[in-house]
Amino acid sequence: MFGNSRSVLIKVNMDVFVVLLMLSGFCVSTASFPNIYYFISENKTWDEANAYCIMEYTGLAQITNPENNTALMNTSAGGYTGKAWIGLVGPLGWVWLDGTQATYFMWDQEPWASDTGYCGLTTYHGWHSVICEYEWYFICFNGSDYIVNKTRVTWNDAKISCENKNSTLAQILDLLTFDKVRRAFRNNNLDEYEPLWIGLSFSPVWFWSETKQISTFVNWKTGQPNNKNNCAAVLVGNGTWTTEPCSEQHPFFCYGVHKSKKTVLSMNIQTDVDLETPDNQAALMEQLQAALAKQGVTDFKLTWTKQPVQKSRKKTDDACLNV
Ligand SMILES: *[C@@H]1O[C@H](CO)[C@@H](O)[C@H](O)[C@H]1NC(C)=O
Ligand SMILES: *[C@@H]1O[C@H](CO)[C@@H](O)[C@H](O)[C@H]1NC(C)=O
Ligand SMILES: *[C@@H]1O[C@H](CO)[C@@H](O)[C@H](O)[C@H]1NC(C)=O
Ligand SMILES: *[C@@H]1O[C@H](CO)[C@@H](O)[C@H](O)[C@H]1NC(C)=O
Ligand SMILES: *[C@@H]1O[C@H](CO)[C@@H](O)[C@H](O)[C@H]1NC(C)=O
Ligand SMILES: *[C@@H]1O[C@H](CO)[C@@H](O)[C@H](O)[C@H]1NC(C)=O
Ligand SMILES: *[C@@H]1O[C@H](CO)[C@@H](O)[C@H](O)[C@H]1NC(C)=O
Repeated sequence: MFGNSRSVLIKVNMDVFVVLLMLSGFCVSTASFPNIYYFISENKTWDEANAYCIMEYTGLAQITNPENNTALMNTSAGGYTGKAWIGLVGPLGWVWLDGTQATYFMWDQEPWASDTGYCGLTTYHGWHSVICEYEWYFICFNGSDYIVNKTRVTWNDAKISCENKNSTLAQILDLLTFDKVRRAFRNNNLDEYEPLWIGLSFSPVWFWSETKQISTFVNWKTGQPNNKNNCAAVLVGNGTWTTEPCSEQHPFFCYGVHKSKKTVLSMNIQTDVDLETPDNQAALMEQLQAALAKQGVTDFKLTWTKQPVQKSRKKTDDACLNV
């Protein structure tokens, strides 16, 4: 399963002991680390799967290039061809006209639609998400004043209209700004339920759960992503991706290092110190730990047992922590 082997060698002086090491760690090449996907056939929600992968491995599978996708497809799923969670979540959602992600919200009604083609508007009471093609009044900001235009136009035409007046559709980044916009309702004798376009629109972006990087390599199934769902799964049959409700239960792919795997490694050690004494045993353990750490194997437990002295000195083999 591992492409690259590293040896853990400890040299050699007189008597040969066979030391049995119990390791829960890995023989990995740092250059290709972490380069393994694991298929877990248990049904879990996305959150449960994520927690499981973080505990047992590194995380849910991150697929950032075509090679990753091939490697994932090469991972045995025991004949399973259905959906399996991957570490892709989204859509990031609501953005202001200046391209910043909206973090402050004053929804009057939860934005029930979250898909491209939805834009934000405000009444005196709060915001709504509606189809951008609808026609409403709008509110521009020219750097000092909030200016209501009582012409009904689409969101995009409102945006252009503001720009033509050296202003932008209002961006409401905090309560103070929202209060100024509300004041414009009074100043313009607007009904408190009159909708006004603001500079908020939905722009779905999917990103990898671990790095928070926006997914640039994508392999969506035709018609996807459906931005009503917030978690992504791979169709194991052909490697394309779909979005699913995060609360659904599916098998999943983890990646990285298997943290709790037990591996037994036996190696020959020659030493001129008397390994019967506890001090020397402790010293040897310390050296083994250091030698393993140097190989990049850091997450392990080390125990050993001494076996009877061998008569003929065995060739010291390269030892690798295989699974
Ligand atoms: C994904 O691709 C990157 C870049 O080639 C590589 O470093 C990484 O090991 C790959 N991950 C897996 C799990 O194959
Ligand atoms: C996972 O759920 C599906 C559908 O509910 C079921 O057919 C399958 O047997 C389950 N797999 C496991 C491993 O429990
Ligand atoms: C996937 O498997 C194919 C055939 O089994 C092999 O040729 C290819 O190198 C593998 N690719 C990866 C990235 O492991
Ligand atoms: C913004 O508009 C108001 C009202 O039309 C005007 O008095 C003000 O000078 C404008 N400010 C800027 C910076 O253009
Ligand atoms: C446009 O508005 C900015 C401030 O928002 C101002 O500095 C600039 O002079 C204005 N340009 C015109 C052509 O009115
Ligand atoms: C209001 O918007 C319309 C449509 O873009 C535009 O024709 C009109 O000039 C605007 N009115 C004012 C007062 O800015
Ligand atoms: C992948 O599989 C899914 C479900 O089995 C199917 O709907 C989709 O068309 C397939 N896509 C490709 C590119 O084969």
